[in-house]
Amino acid sequence: MRKKIGSPRGLFDPYYVPDLLLHRDREMHSLTGVYKDSYESEYGVNCLVHGITGVGMTVFSRYFLTKLVPQQFDAFTVYVDARSKDVLEIVSELNDKIHQETKKPITVAFDLDVLWMQFKRTATSASKKTIFVIDNIDERNEEVYAKLARLSKEIKASTIGVLNSHDYRLLTKAPATQMAYDFEVPLDTYTQAQLYEIVRMRVEDTFPMSLTDEIVRYITDIVCEFDASKPKTSIEALKALWPLSSQGQEIDSEAVRAATSKITVVGNDQDYMDIIDTIALNDFMTLLVLEAIAGHLTSYPTETYIDRQTVNDIIAAKCEELSVRYDPHDIEKSLQTLIFQSVIFESGYSRNLLYVLTPPEILYDASMNLRRQLARRK
Ligand SMILES: Nc1ncnc2c1ncn2[C@@H]1O[C@H](COP(=O)(O)OP(=O)(O)OP(=O)(O)O)[C@@H](O)[C@H]1O
Ligand SMILES: [Mg+2]
Repeated sequence: MRKKIGSPRGLFDPYYVPDLLLHRDREMHSLTGVYKDSYESEYGVNCLVHGITGVGMTVFSRYFLTKLVPQQFDAFTVYVDARSKDVLEIVSELNDKIHQETKKPITVAFDLDVLWMQFKRTATSASKKTIFVIDNIDERNEEVYAKLARLSKEIKASTIGVLNSHDYRLLTKAPATQMAYDFEVPLDTYTQAQLYEIVRMRVEDTFPMSLTDEIVRYITDIVCEFDASKPKTSIEALKALWPLSSQGQEIDSEAVRAATSKITVVGNDQDYMDIIDTIALNDFMTLLVLEAIAGHLTSYPTETYIDRQTVNDIIAAKCEELSVRYDPHDIEKSLQTLIFQSVIFESGYSRNLLYVLTPPEILYDASMNLRRQLARRK
């Protein structure tokens, strides 16, 4: 059997629809149910799909339109992305696409009213029901959507308006709202485990060489910690890693840190050093804990996480070497300090797994030097 070779299209094409849409069964089921009723009973429905930016609204609406509708209904489908297009562009795209679907010849026109009339005529006389998706509705184009939604009611077509939470609040809560809609599908953020599966699947679909579980986890941990578990941010990270992987380079933690540095700008290395300096003033144990973690991750660059037991073991050995008292409670307290200060992080999969975002060798040097200074002072 030929091994499926990843195609980068799934990362670089914003309209790409994966074969499987993970963890949206409930939402897809309710959307399909509403359209099924309207399809069978011959009326039109207008629906709004909304969620925070990057949560997967486009892929959700396109999955419905390109995979489910053709399977379940005999309908025409028209998708228009309204992002940064003016009203004329949107209407002429609607017009082009309805003519393509219905295989009707089109007359060239540049006037908005003429285009709308042409569109209306062709949509009205279409031999099948039509489902229109307008993606990225906002203040500048809401009128086009509202107009399309009204027309759809007349001609028993249906619409799906897609908009981010911000525009949804803005446009649906206004007193004189234009946004008449029958039904809405809110898209929630995914849990950590769900996001992991989505990223894993996308890696398998698109990567020249697969990534280890640890690396996919690390990406997911970082996105969940810093970016509200948005799949879009994970896919952006994969995009940045793709050229390295296709050159045959192995993807390690350092590459992931570089690929996600845009969202993890909690502070620069100097800020970290200041935090560590402050911790260091009198907290010998915390420095030792940091040194143990950073030292381990430096010696094993392919390991992304260190578990608490390993931390304890390393520290037990260090304590013996330095003849200081070893007490697991002190270690836990120090870990809490470091986590609280965002010097180290707990994995969302398991509290037992710890990771860092500053290159471990930098943390290692800093903590070791400070600890030695502290020891000399005492
Ligand atoms: N459930 C899922 N299964 C597989 N891939 C997903 C899923 N949800 C989102 N994705 C992927 O995440 C990425 C972002 O999704 P999408 O572009 O649909 O987000 P969006 O909410 O429309 O973002 P924007 O605010 O930029 O319009 C895409 O690559 C998409 O294919
Ligand atoms: Mg989108």
